[in-house]
Amino acid sequence: MAGYSDYPMRCIVRELGGCGLFYTELISCHSVIHAHEKTRALLKSDRNEYPLVVQLFGSHLEYMPAAASEMEALGAGLIDINMGCPVSKVVKTGGGAVLMKEPETAAKIVKVVRNAISIPLTVKIRIGWDSNSINGPDFAARMVDSGAQCVAVHGRTRAQGYAGKADWNEIAKVVKAVKKADSSVPVIANGDIVDPLSAEKIIETTGCDGIMIGRAAMGAPWLFRRVARYLKDKTLIDDPSYPEKGRLALRHLELLKETYGEKGASLHIRRIACAYGRGKLGVAEFRRRIVGVTSTEEAKLVIKDFFGEDHE
Ligand SMILES: Cc1cc2nc3c(=O)[nH]c(=O)nc-3n(C[C@H](O)[C@H](O)[C@H](O)COP(=O)(O)O)c2cc1C
Repeated sequence: MAGYSDYPMRCIVRELGGCGLFYTELISCHSVIHAHEKTRALLKSDRNEYPLVVQLFGSHLEYMPAAASEMEALGAGLIDINMGCPVSKVVKTGGGAVLMKEPETAAKIVKVVRNAISIPLTVKIRIGWDSNSINGPDFAARMVDSGAQCVAVHGRTRAQGYAGKADWNEIAKVVKAVKKADSSVPVIANGDIVDPLSAEKIIETTGCDGIMIGRAAMGAPWLFRRVARYLKDKTLIDDPSYPEKGRLALRHLELLKETYGEKGASLHIRRIACAYGRGKLGVAEFRRRIVGVTSTEEAKLVIKDFFGEDHE
């Protein structure tokens, strides 16, 4: 997730456990080829992260395979092509969700990328562009025929953005269509998984092989552990206490500093700490204070003050 599933977030989730596969934030094939400095930061990883899914977006028939091949050389475990991002900046490049309107182009991209790499290739799609053009099942089957080895599907249309409810019945249709095309290709269901029970429900409803959690994990890196434990043996682990959440926010800050340096970390922590504070009484005042911090030391004090002192 852009702005969230960076190296510090992936590290903290890994430390807590429960997540089987990590995706990078989406990366433009153009910026890989032109090696922008910011792109390098998106690629930061370590050997413990293997296999890491590097997610690319774009539609350029030379840059996409070249970028995928470069990512493989840099240690990516899998390449994912984003065909679901609704953001205009992405759609304007011909990448993201607009590809759902162009199955021919999307299939070509999958084929050229497939031929350029030896690691697995996956795609992330939506159920369609808008409610008049729901084509998730046919589109997914076509991507599989073109060489995609796993499909993740978010149960909303591009027109919905992140509003309304994800349609799990449409995801079920995608699962069926993919299995018909190639029964060995796994489908990952995504959209509105917020806790262990919704995770169980989406699996029952869709017959998917895996699940993907997005927004509910922002500022809640322990969610994967809660969900995984429940799916394993129906144990419902409590959410961490506020002092424990504060300790995790401080650990996150430490990882941000290691990754982005003092200045970068004091900017990133403003957004991240707000996510950790969600739901706690006094969060509005906390937000006001944390968005004004100018150093990581100051951020630490504000976090400790808000979450409580039990940080050992
Ligand atoms: C801020 C934000 C950034 C996102 N960035 C990405 C991204 O880089 N790649 C991607 O495949 N999906 C991205 N998504 C979509 C999520 O991965 C997910 O498909 C969507 O939020 C639905 O799942 P959820 O209901 O669990 O949040 C993003 C969503 C949000 C809100």
